[in-house]
Amino acid sequence: MPELWTVKRLLEWTTDFFKKKNFDTPRLEAEILLAAAMNVKRIALYTAYDSEPADAQRTVFRGFVKRRGAGEPAAYLVGYREFYSLPFKVDKRVLIPRPETESLVLEGIDYLKTLPEGTTPSVIDIGTGSGAVAVSLAKNLPKKSNNAKITAVDISADALTVAKENAAKNGVADKIEFVQSDLLTNVNGTFDLILSNPPYVSKAQYDALPVDVKNYEPQLALLSGETGTEVIERIIVQAKEKLNSGGALFIEGSPFLLPAVEKMLNNWHNVRIINDNAGLNRIITATR
Ligand SMILES: C[S@@+](CC[C@H](N)C(=O)[O-])C[C@H]1O[C@@H](n2cnc3c(N)ncnc32)[C@H](O)[C@@H]1O
Repeated sequence: MPELWTVKRLLEWTTDFFKKKNFDTPRLEAEILLAAAMNVKRIALYTAYDSEPADAQRTVFRGFVKRRGAGEPAAYLVGYREFYSLPFKVDKRVLIPRPETESLVLEGIDYLKTLPEGTTPSVIDIGTGSGAVAVSLAKNLPKKSNNAKITAVDISADALTVAKENAAKNGVADKIEFVQSDLLTNVNGTFDLILSNPPYVSKAQYDALPVDVKNYEPQLALLSGETGTEVIERIIVQAKEKLNSGGALFIEGSPFLLPAVEKMLNNWHNVRIINDNAGLNRIITATR
């Protein structure tokens, strides 16, 4: 009897295929791709284990699996990634938001909670990419900062197009001003809170990145320069000029890099390194 390509069997086969490719989350990726090919939510697969997807759906799925197997990230294949429990459109114009960056949003929200009632804080997200940080923050502002003025900048016009779509998709388009700018050079005004997940990969690290990152995600979003600290160093210098007195800077970096960044903040106050969900040094904060 010919084998039945049920949902269960397709997931098993694909998980096995992805395991052999050493993917970190083979089962999850198989489910994401199959759900997208069938145009259903991932959870719907669990009640459809014994059903056979239609031929057309299987053809789409086979295409996804082939491309994923060759390195293309699952998020780009399905055009979507969840971040901070919100849906974000993603494609090759923007970095796929990473779970560790959710800590940056959490810290931003916590900082806003410490500000006095009745103020209108001004916040900026430098290098917004898909808009992940700015949109999640806008969506989850503490009540007393609900009128915060949020700006999101990126040097890439393409990224800003995607970020604006994500702001609209999540119902916060009217809460964020998007500006094309090289860091803060094209930005007016001053800020109470500056957040950034900037490019922080060194040249050597970039050369050694896995294919699914290096060959697909924008180099501009990842590569900082020879040492990895170049962009962060410029942010620190510019932030000093643009932060209101007592205002806070939160920058994401790699665990290896943050000690060097800490030294750059030697004339700032309240310098602190914060761990991400995986327990790794991930964010550095300081106040002016
Ligand atoms: C690591 S990605 C972060 C994207 C998004 N914030 C996130 O966390 O998923 C860095 C972003 O910074 C942008 N970028 C790189 N150099 C920049 C510069 N000089 N000025 C402004 N943005 C820049 C890139 O285009 C990219 O979107």
